[in-house]
Amino acid sequence: MKHFLSVDDVDDPMMLVKEAINLKSHPLVYDDLGIRKVLGLIFLNPSLRTRMSTTRAAYNLGMNVMSLNMSNDSWTLETEDGVVMDGNSIEHVKDAAAVMGQYCEVIGIRSFPSLKDREDDYGEHLIKYFAQYSGVPVINLESSTVHPLQSLADLVTIEEMKKRAKPKVVMTWAPHVRALPQSVPNSFAEWMNRTDYEFVITHPEGMGLHPKFVGDATVTHDQEKALENADFVYVKNWSGFEHYGELKNDPSWMIDLNKLKNTNNAKLMHCLPVRRNVVIADDALDSDHSVILKQAGNRVCAAQAVLKSILM
Ligand code: CP
Repeated sequence: MKHFLSVDDVDDPMMLVKEAINLKSHPLVYDDLGIRKVLGLIFLNPSLRTRMSTTRAAYNLGMNVMSLNMSNDSWTLETEDGVVMDGNSIEHVKDAAAVMGQYCEVIGIRSFPSLKDREDDYGEHLIKYFAQYSGVPVINLESSTVHPLQSLADLVTIEEMKKRAKPKVVMTWAPHVRALPQSVPNSFAEWMNRTDYEFVITHPEGMGLHPKFVGDATVTHDQEKALENADFVYVKNWSGFEHYGELKNDPSWMIDLNKLKNTNNAKLMHCLPVRRNVVIADDALDSDHSVILKQAGNRVCAAQAVLKSILM
């Protein structure tokens, strides 16, 4: 694997899932693969799980890790080509990426969308610049439109927990108090569309995702109907794609224990962080349905499978 920017960089996603599950059982089998190699983790936005799980994955492979918080500790990057840099940006991403590529064998980068300019966000300029100019493999730690490390961990979780070969997986929109990116639901949909599972997306009218990510999924605005007989319920808020970045906060879409009653004893999933009793009620999050901690744990083996594939 050269870069890991999205599922499109993976020849066989289910093989990568199997590799992650193997590494989870034997995390130190390849503990010298990355010796004397450095993973640079660059964050333009906050992170708990991605930062710590990817660091741990690198350690399991013998790598060293350097982490940089761009927003506090480095220069503001320019991402437009050919501009007169007389504004707030101090360093062009072309130069910064080329410099960092000399310090690291692999670079991971996180950069959220502005949610103001859809064309610009969906152009994914920053991560593409890093892939183009750093000269080393680049891992997406969540970009403007996708979060593939999260989706890989989600797929690992489903494969570990499924009770039938082709489970019904439902991704439901949920309310929130802030406008959030579409990266997690886009990515989850994109990865689900590479499986043979039954995949359903449910959201209020006007909250549809970009069609290229929705793909062949069944889409319905009837949450109750969607949840019937579900094996997995993936809960996530996202802001508008059509009315780009628009916040919607409809509390009737919050998932609680009662809503899981008509499922097939569904496992409840969320990428975290989750606002309790806004997105999902305590009674559901603290019930036996919840696999949110397992999901978060699986971030390590998912990242390790990606790093291993890049290093080999
Ligand atoms: N799910 C996830 O990516 O968590 P962090 O934002 O804490 O990394």
